[in-house]
Amino acid sequence: MQEPKVSQRDQFVSKIGFILAAAGSAVGLGNIWRFPYLAGKNGGGAFVLFYLSCVIVLGFGLMLAEFIIGRHTQLSSVDAFKKLDKRFTFVGGMGVLAAFIIMGYYPVVGGWSVAYIFKTLFGELSTDAAVMGGAFESLIEGMFSPIFWTAIYMIANIVIVVKGISTGIERASKVMLPTLFGLLIILVIRSLTLPNAAEGLRYLFVPDFSKLTGDVMMAALGQAFFSLSLGMGCMITYASYLSKKENLVENATIVPILDTLVALLAGVVIIPATVSFGFDLDSGPGLVFVTVPAIFATMGPIIGRIFGFIFFFMIAIAALTSSLSLLEVVVSYLIDNRGWDRKKAVTITSIILFIICIASSLSMGIWKDKKLMDMNIFDLLDWFANNVLLPLGGIFITLFVGWFWDKDKVKAEVTNDGSIKFTLFNVWIFLCRFIIPIIILLVLLRGIGLI
Ligand code: TRP
Repeated sequence: MQEPKVSQRDQFVSKIGFILAAAGSAVGLGNIWRFPYLAGKNGGGAFVLFYLSCVIVLGFGLMLAEFIIGRHTQLSSVDAFKKLDKRFTFVGGMGVLAAFIIMGYYPVVGGWSVAYIFKTLFGELSTDAAVMGGAFESLIEGMFSPIFWTAIYMIANIVIVVKGISTGIERASKVMLPTLFGLLIILVIRSLTLPNAAEGLRYLFVPDFSKLTGDVMMAALGQAFFSLSLGMGCMITYASYLSKKENLVENATIVPILDTLVALLAGVVIIPATVSFGFDLDSGPGLVFVTVPAIFATMGPIIGRIFGFIFFFMIAIAALTSSLSLLEVVVSYLIDNRGWDRKKAVTITSIILFIICIASSLSMGIWKDKKLMDMNIFDLLDWFANNVLLPLGGIFITLFVGWFWDKDKVKAEVTNDGSIKFTLFNVWIFLCRFIIPIIILLVLLRGIGLI
């Protein structure tokens, strides 16, 4: 049913629509591509456990803080902060920058998944690590082909974001998210019935604390932010389109649960299969693209290809519902703050982002050796956004809500003017004041090597 509009600002028209869009933003390459390869690279169980602790302690609290800011102001992040407290406007600015940086490489991986939709259908499918690894490398190291697929992926984003919230993003998310769940379950069953699956599960879930170094903790924290779309005002922006009747606490609980479920399922698909085939757990960004086609190869040529097609199609849509939200952060800033119209904002932003994506893509191939701090352009963008900008954003957002915003106003917003009970209000404020900023700060300092 159509809700009456509070202002002429576009809104999510249904409750489930918002949950799916917010979850659609959260669930993306972060869960299916990044989480499994980080878990593989950073020693498995200890990383996963620390990641889960970050989600529980920080994820819920920060997401709620972002929802409250967004819905209260009905403005995207820069203007939201500007309206609430001018001194914090830079936090919104940092967020727009982070969205820009992430969108400078995210579509490249989105492009790989689009390419793999066709590769699994028509290309080589083998359980041999060398063959699948070779196929992946030849794709990402190429000049034109990955850029071509990135372009296709970008165009899909543009088409949806141009349409705005209720018709574009909401409608797309409603179909995509449920499909994704169904497919993951099928893959979990296949992966767990492979020989040696138990060993992979052990790697993923039994922590070896000697592996929990500063770097690993920082990676887990960064991944929690990235996966939940936190720390850069993305959820502020989405919640700015949310009706005043919604229960924010409920939303801030459901979304992290859904997101974590998808990440864990993806881990359970990929890690045991990687171990079972004897692939390298430490193979980084290629892990999903090498391991999963190999799982499909075991299902026989025809079934394998069909499932492969569906799987990469699903990754592409999961990625799409996330990059939409990233693009929306930049676009809504240009609309709200600079007075641009939507079409102009989307077009110009996308062209600039596409150019950065070309650089990221080439840094996997001909620019492989151009490195700063031992990272190529792609890795550098990823590291700087996720391990630095998002955690810093998280510190400032929670400090703002905890210390600088009138507590009564916060309470009125979160309880919908007293009509909803939130018994843990004081606990949550305490989290925002002390626990969340301090934990983030400690992990950051440890990650940089200062403590
Ligand atoms: N969470 C998404 C993923 O897991 C990526 C993403 C979308 C994101 N919006 C964001 C990351 C905002 C950080 C901030 O793929």
